[in-house]
Amino acid sequence: MSTIDKIKELKRERDAVILAHYYVEDEVQAIADYVGDSFYLSKIAAKAEARTILFCGVSFMGESAKILSPQKTVIMPDMQADCPMAHMADIGQIQKMREEYDDLAVVCYINSTAELKTHSDVCVTSSNALKIVRELPNQHIYFIPDENLGRYVASQVPEKQFIFNDGFCHVHRDITSEHVRKAKETHPQAKILVHPECTPDVVGMADYIGSTSGIIDAVAKSQAEEFIICTELGVLYELKQKNPGKRFYPAGHQQFCPNMKRITLEKVADALEKMENTVEMDEETRIRANKPLERMLTLGS
Ligand code: 13P
Ligand code: SF4
Repeated sequence: MSTIDKIKELKRERDAVILAHYYVEDEVQAIADYVGDSFYLSKIAAKAEARTILFCGVSFMGESAKILSPQKTVIMPDMQADCPMAHMADIGQIQKMREEYDDLAVVCYINSTAELKTHSDVCVTSSNALKIVRELPNQHIYFIPDENLGRYVASQVPEKQFIFNDGFCHVHRDITSEHVRKAKETHPQAKILVHPECTPDVVGMADYIGSTSGIIDAVAKSQAEEFIICTELGVLYELKQKNPGKRFYPAGHQQFCPNMKRITLEKVADALEKMENTVEMDEETRIRANKPLERMLTLGS
């Protein structure tokens, strides 16, 4: 039996739904029931009807699914697939900021550990951060863990004061303005599409700035035929399928997230067969981490 047929059979046996992020390998996206950006996938996880959620992504995604859907069994194809940025904030520093500012909102990018979420007021993703931050009553925003997304949000919400944290995504940081300038020189007609995890100088060169889904929608709506892609190249699978006549150029040389790429079809089949890689969390952490996530679902939708 092929691995794909095995996955289909095990999915029925385990009453499982497969969620996948746009950064995982093409063949994994192809077998998923739902593929999307972080916000879309958390909404799907929150209302999933199947007994089991298999999350093809990194740890914080599986954790968020478990937090939002505690009655489900959440499994991961590879427990080592973790986003380094999710750990790049400090609880002591959050407490210090809370002492310093009376009206502080700790705004936590969903790319964060469950523990960081327990100390936060609201979660955001790159597709809803602007809307949510604008709606908060607070004047002071401590944005964790991603400095680049924080700076992008701050540039669009000038009426609030931001405090930044120095977390970053190495995949997006390594796309430099020099790469983008060279790509534009080679393809002068191409539109520049940028994920806000990129550095401010790259964001400043963009024709469009948004989440992975935002980038995919922007291409579909655009009259242009060529695009320079400034995010992880897993998005090319959906982009090429939806736009066979359009051309896509990576800006840099290393636009691969090694953690997302750990997910393979074989590991998907194995996880469904063994049902071992389950996401577990103590109930107190789950309840506290759920608050900012639920607030995101309310404010962001
Ligand atoms: P989005 O799909 O929400 O844009 O997130 C990008 C990302 O880095 C996920 O790890
Ligand atoms: Fe984390 Fe960056 Fe990989 Fe997204 S692309 S999972 S932010 S390391």
